[in-house]
Amino acid sequence: LAVSSLSGSETFTDLFSLKDEVEMGHIRLAREADMILVVPASADLIAKMANGEANDLATTCLLANAYDKPVLVAPAMNYKMWEHPATQRNVEQIKKDGAIIMDPDTGKMACGETGKGRMVAPEVIIPAVLQHLAAHQGPLAGKRAVVTAGPTHELIDPVRYIGNRSSGKQGYAIAEALEAAGAEVLVVSGPTGLEDPDTTKIIRVRTAEEMYQATLAALPTDIAIFAAAVADWRPENRADNKIKKDKMSGATPDITLVETTDILASVAQHERKRPELVIGFAAETENLLEHGEDKLKRKGCDWLLANNTSGGRIFGKEDTELLFIEEGGHEKWGEMDKKEAADVLVQKIVGWYAEKTDNSDDNSSNSKIRIAKS
Ligand code: CTP
Repeated sequence: LAVSSLSGSETFTDLFSLKDEVEMGHIRLAREADMILVVPASADLIAKMANGEANDLATTCLLANAYDKPVLVAPAMNYKMWEHPATQRNVEQIKKDGAIIMDPDTGKMACGETGKGRMVAPEVIIPAVLQHLAAHQGPLAGKRAVVTAGPTHELIDPVRYIGNRSSGKQGYAIAEALEAAGAEVLVVSGPTGLEDPDTTKIIRVRTAEEMYQATLAALPTDIAIFAAAVADWRPENRADNKIKKDKMSGATPDITLVETTDILASVAQHERKRPELVIGFAAETENLLEHGEDKLKRKGCDWLLANNTSGGRIFGKEDTELLFIEEGGHEKWGEMDKKEAADVLVQKIVGWYAEKTDNSDDNSSNSKIRIAKS
């Protein structure tokens, strides 16, 4: 009654109400919404979502929606319930399935305890919803994109790994810019110190193999952008226990490295699911154009953005300097903020789609003429 009077519209609560089902069945409720908000989301409801349970109207709508329309979840619960491994597993699961999670705030709770679990303020939720809805009307609306970001960690033993200095900033900025242009984006991120983006779906992985699997699982997409600094090699064998120093001889461990799967090349050369626009990055310390052109061909991507990472530049920094390379041409983008570079790239993508539409319009009008002639 309270929700109905405040919102000025009907509230549906009962899955088996004959009256409600006649007026608006649960399938229609799930399909006609532009977005579903689960606010506040209890530990119980999140668990049901993770397991596909549908024993009341809310969970049935969520199941019937099947993430066709965006689902935004704002958890609210006692901090121990939030920290519980079962809840964390469930949150990870629904995130993987497609839910957008608005991480709870830390502070004093209704039960008197203090910790992380307070529902994020409505003042934060509403702009996120508006941004999401506005974005889905942009020039890339209806396009799906996957973006890899950050480094990977290749494990030597339980405490050591081979990694690199990538911060993930460029990949996250691209994901944000794509989403602002209306695309539906999934970020496959290696370990970074960055917070999850507010509205973009994200899967966190650790190793190159995990990144490869998560990226493949995201296909088919229209666009794929490989901004991650994937480790080229991983230790062939990972020790189960911490490798100890040989105190007598001082001998160093023998670590044999094997090449990781080239995620970009595998996706760009995928027989059935190659995205129509595949964009790679290249971290070089010399001969940018030459190495970049070679990588573009070797990996089979459409565009390549090469940057000069020598002397500690680029990695971890706010600024970048990119050389854009495509078959038969290249352009220098000059020094700019990574967010700006992301915007320039997304504008380029928007332009590419506009040109593609123009060309196909031209072709279809040609074909009409041909039909008229015959
Ligand atoms: N890449 C990838 N999977 C790998 C290695 C690289 O997807 N196992 C992608 C990166 O995300 C980037 C591009 O390939 O978009 C080029 O990465 P880079 O490290 O510059 O090139 P490499 O192929 O690793 O070649 P090299 O290190 O010899 O320059």
